[in-house]
Amino acid sequence: MQIEQAKRIEQIPPYLFAEIDKKKQEMRQKGMDLIDLGIGDPDLPTPKPIIERLKKAAEDPRNHRYPSYEGMIEFRTAVAKWYERRFRVKLDPKTEVLSLIGSKEGIAHIPLAFVNPEDYVLIPNPGYPVFRVSTLFAGGTPYFFSLRKENAFLPNLSEIPKGVAEKTKLLFINYPNNPTSAVAERPFFEEVVAFARQYQIVVCHDAAYSEIAFDGYQPLSFLGVNGGKEVGIEFHSLSKTFNMTGWRIGFAVGHSEILSGLGRVKTNVDSGLFQAIQEAGTEALNHFNTPLPEIIKIYERRRDVMVGGLKEIGLEVEKPKATFYLWIQVPKGYSSAQFATLLLEQAGIVATPGNGFGEAGEGYIRMALTVDETRLKEAIKRLKRIRF
Ligand SMILES: Cc1ncc(COP(=O)(O)O)c(C=O)c1O
Repeated sequence: MQIEQAKRIEQIPPYLFAEIDKKKQEMRQKGMDLIDLGIGDPDLPTPKPIIERLKKAAEDPRNHRYPSYEGMIEFRTAVAKWYERRFRVKLDPKTEVLSLIGSKEGIAHIPLAFVNPEDYVLIPNPGYPVFRVSTLFAGGTPYFFSLRKENAFLPNLSEIPKGVAEKTKLLFINYPNNPTSAVAERPFFEEVVAFARQYQIVVCHDAAYSEIAFDGYQPLSFLGVNGGKEVGIEFHSLSKTFNMTGWRIGFAVGHSEILSGLGRVKTNVDSGLFQAIQEAGTEALNHFNTPLPEIIKIYERRRDVMVGGLKEIGLEVEKPKATFYLWIQVPKGYSSAQFATLLLEQAGIVATPGNGFGEAGEGYIRMALTVDETRLKEAIKRLKRIRF
């Protein structure tokens, strides 16, 4: 039998990191000690009280059955309370909070609820690849807007043609931003609200990195600006906030009808989130004030070590206010892929070529600060030995 994949899968762009992965394997086989700054997966452990709560909750037979689709009311209430504490945004836990199996799951499903074939979805370029893939899976047409350095990596919404905006159903934005580490302030969010109102567009703000911010900076919630909750929802995750990437727990908050559309898709494809994990998530949100200072201090130190070292070498990089990513301009004469390959072959350093996040990422590489300070210092030492 010939196994043929659906066109839906075939249209997904090729895995752009395949070349780097192959090289990584080759270098490892040669015995090279790799410093992997490629993946945004925290190396730090989940805080103890969260783990203890999971242990207890896992023993409770009530948690062994199917969970409710929308999430336990205790978890949704903890989300609402945390939102009010952290962002001064009031949410009704019954209708304005939905649990997710990680925020990726919600982002992957939302276009299925709102996008018809022919509809446009506005997507940042460079951007988190799931925005594009979920749009394509739903049969929508991605329309990419560029995030450029000269505009502080914020989109210029007035550049979106009227004809496209009129046929647009969803707009994805993501601040603090992956991969550029840019942040957004109130005037930008207000502009987004006005744009969404004008063209009747559902706004999906991905705030997965809202609690990874430095020097006392506190990123805003999109729902905290006037009208935000009338046009959109916000995706959140416990992954980065509490070092819980492997646990798969996140949530969406905001406009109740948008959430109910997403919920309707979810009831048909998953059966909710393991209740013991929801109990642990409840503990996390009730017990801690975020950002967690112990985690932030570590990332701050790593950021300072790495930014300082990169600048000494002559590379152009901004000191990020948020996220654990560095968005580094590649030296003249190199493409993103060429520079990433050079770092890998000559220094054993794994960085992600910027064009993997969309062609507007060309000219950059991304480094994740998810290895310890000693290794980062070693990375700088090795970088100093390369000529470029
Ligand atoms: C911008 C952005 N959004 C969402 C996610 C998904 O996170 P999770 O599914 O772990 O909540 C990630 C993960 O790296 C991300 O970078």
